[in-house]
Amino acid sequence: MTELTSLILSRIRDVYDYPQPGVLFKDITPLLADPVAFAAVVDELARWATADSADTVGMVDKVVGIEARGFILAAPVACQAGVGFVPVRKKGKLPAETLSAAYDLEYGSATVEVHRDAFAPGDRVLIVDDVLATGGTAQATVELVGRAGAEVVGVAVLMELAFLKGRDRLEGVDLRSLVIV
Ligand code: PRP
Repeated sequence: MTELTSLILSRIRDVYDYPQPGVLFKDITPLLADPVAFAAVVDELARWATADSADTVGMVDKVVGIEARGFILAAPVACQAGVGFVPVRKKGKLPAETLSAAYDLEYGSATVEVHRDAFAPGDRVLIVDDVLATGGTAQATVELVGRAGAEVVGVAVLMELAFLKGRDRLEGVDLRSLVIV
């Protein structure tokens, strides 16, 4: 286990029976409250968005963040990588013309949207989120970004919940997780 992995794991709190009985919620707020851990996570995710390392997903034109917790990570990653940030939001939150994709969650269902003109044709995009669970949100976002005319070069998450097999829904996508639990 790397130093970063153990730091991240030590700053994620398990909350039982949230948001409903039987669900174990992974709470990242202790990590966000630790400036060293937060900066280390942003650094590592931003490294994947830039071309300064052999194991990067490559230089990207935009970083996409998924509402709401994804925004917390994706926005500083975009700034640090020196590229623009594009929000993928829950239904009805974006003001201009949108594209939509519906998906199932671990608990419930939802629709995500992106502005139709968010990308230049062929933009290379890294999608950033906090957690990959069932993979439904990331899969819908990959589809949306593609329909908006951009190319998804990778999906980067802080934490992958392996037992929910979200990775299986992202076949052909370069998925990177800082920690897998
Ligand atoms: C959580 C999380 C991911 C998604 C992962 O967001 O931030 O976006 O679920 O789940 P999945 O892989 O099963 O799709 P949530 O929809 O709870 O919204 P929030 O970020 O606004 O809390």
